[in-house]
Amino acid sequence: MCGIFGIVYSEEKNNLGECLMKAARRLVYRGYDSAGFVGISEEGKIDLRKDAGKLDKIAKKLKFQEIKGKRGIIQLRWATFGIPKKENAQPHVDCKKRLVSAHNGNVVNTGELIRELTFKGHSFMGDNDGEVVCHTVEDFFNVDHNLGKSIMKAYRILRGDYSYIIADSKEKGMFAVKKGSSLFLGIGKDFTCASSDLPSILPFTKRYIPLYDGEFAEFHSSSYKIMSLETGERIEREELIYKGDISQAEKGGFPHFMIKEIKEQPRTVNGIISYLNDSGEALEYGKQIRKSRKAFLIGSGSSYHASLMGSYFLNRIGRKFSIPVVSGEFKELFGNTLNKRDSFILVSQSGETKDTINVLNYLQERGFENLYSFVNIPGSTLYLRTKKRFPVMSELEISVAATKTFLNQAVGFVGLSALIGGRNDILKEISLLPGLLEETIGKSEVFCENLAEELKSSLSIYILGYGPNHPAALEGALKIKEVSYIHGEAYYSTEFKHGPLALIEEGNPVIFLSSREDSEKIISAINEVRVRKGKIISISPENSSIRLNSDVFIPLPYENYTMTPLLSVAVLQLLAYYLSVKRDIDPDTPRNLSKTITVD
Ligand code: BG6
Repeated sequence: MCGIFGIVYSEEKNNLGECLMKAARRLVYRGYDSAGFVGISEEGKIDLRKDAGKLDKIAKKLKFQEIKGKRGIIQLRWATFGIPKKENAQPHVDCKKRLVSAHNGNVVNTGELIRELTFKGHSFMGDNDGEVVCHTVEDFFNVDHNLGKSIMKAYRILRGDYSYIIADSKEKGMFAVKKGSSLFLGIGKDFTCASSDLPSILPFTKRYIPLYDGEFAEFHSSSYKIMSLETGERIEREELIYKGDISQAEKGGFPHFMIKEIKEQPRTVNGIISYLNDSGEALEYGKQIRKSRKAFLIGSGSSYHASLMGSYFLNRIGRKFSIPVVSGEFKELFGNTLNKRDSFILVSQSGETKDTINVLNYLQERGFENLYSFVNIPGSTLYLRTKKRFPVMSELEISVAATKTFLNQAVGFVGLSALIGGRNDILKEISLLPGLLEETIGKSEVFCENLAEELKSSLSIYILGYGPNHPAALEGALKIKEVSYIHGEAYYSTEFKHGPLALIEEGNPVIFLSSREDSEKIISAINEVRVRKGKIISISPENSSIRLNSDVFIPLPYENYTMTPLLSVAVLQLLAYYLSVKRDIDPDTPRNLSKTITVD
């Protein structure tokens, strides 16, 4: 979705544009259809610069770095309402060019409000819902002349899930409003800031305060107050200190965040391994989930693939009945058949995916209590609204395509399954993973770079797997789609012959993921494709018959039920990355996507 950030300094800043740029770079993953900066001087002069396009291009064209002022607001947009064009870029100003605001999320009654406000004399530059936020507040402000009061009244009118930042250029300070999308305050020595994302606050300060839905904050350079949007009553909230290592949000010499995050998996996987071994919490969660009637594993995108892989592990290792389900389909598939004794694991690296939060709302509104969040960002909505938290422990992941967070989620499910199934041997085996990942990534990178050169003009790439290698194939196919725009399609290796085989023409690349125990099945599937002249690429522990029957064979250093699929995903991540780079695509900010989709 979109990223928003606002800051109030104690003094006028000649380098306000550079400060805002620091925050903007941490918000790019939220959206890059357009970018806008505004500086407000001590005297209330507004310097608003914005346009459609990626941040760096717009920043250069509009000279964002030159912006000065005491207050600043920025917005990076992933378009939902209104095509990416200058008029729909944010921040927006009101009719009198006095109020300035930027929003994230969706105001679902935008059309209706544009008609009503236009009828009342407001003029709109575009059709973006962020502009409706600004004019709705203005409409009340024209009567109340009190921004706080106008925000509270607008809260009752603006429908949907959103957060926004707004300032009156003629007054001091700034406001941040939260209703359904993430919002944090950052507390500094000579400033206070607000943002949709913690990573954009961390370069300024590690002191932060999460806001909850239905709250808004008024903040000045050295003070803030949090209030209820319903009553205006003041709310006390404890300040938190971010304990992670923020340097992780820098590229560290790598050309892209994606390759950095792929290669740091041998280190970041230790986060979840230590959690599984050292925290009694995971053991306690395992006991509770074992006692529950069944476990729903709920997520979107890569978080769904981790859930799908987790359900194989829960079956095989934990002997626990589980149902993996895409967040957006949960209600339709299971909404009327839930039982209070069921447990629900909400899987989301950002903790902000709207489809998954919709499930949380659905369950909490019906009094379900066995809710667990499995998220990577402390202070995120899912984290704050659940009591039982299973941390992903991957450190910040910046690239839009999930890699290290997927791995830690999948490893978390291996560990949870082992705890539920009392399999200490499996828990011990997980400690081999950092070394195995190091070896796999080290040895297969050249294979993947060469293979990407061969496959970069392919129209489609099929990836087949059996058992937990199927979600591994799904995750690999998603990476390829996301960052190379090639149609990657995953299929059960057992199912491919029932129809999709018709698609195979000479030279069609088909990637087979194999573990020793399914190698017989895989060899049959390979032969079915081979006799039709498909190009066979295999990722497998050493296996002479698979090697002999493959055009390209990428060996894995280890064989077992849980590790092989995880190591295969690391290889597929590398392949997707090199396909992206060889197709001159920026893997960190692929078209049409956003790291966190906070809208339906
Ligand atoms: C999508 C991202 O928007 O959201 C995917 O592009 C991600 O990479 C999916 O897997 C789910 O996100 P989250 O934060 O809920 O894991």
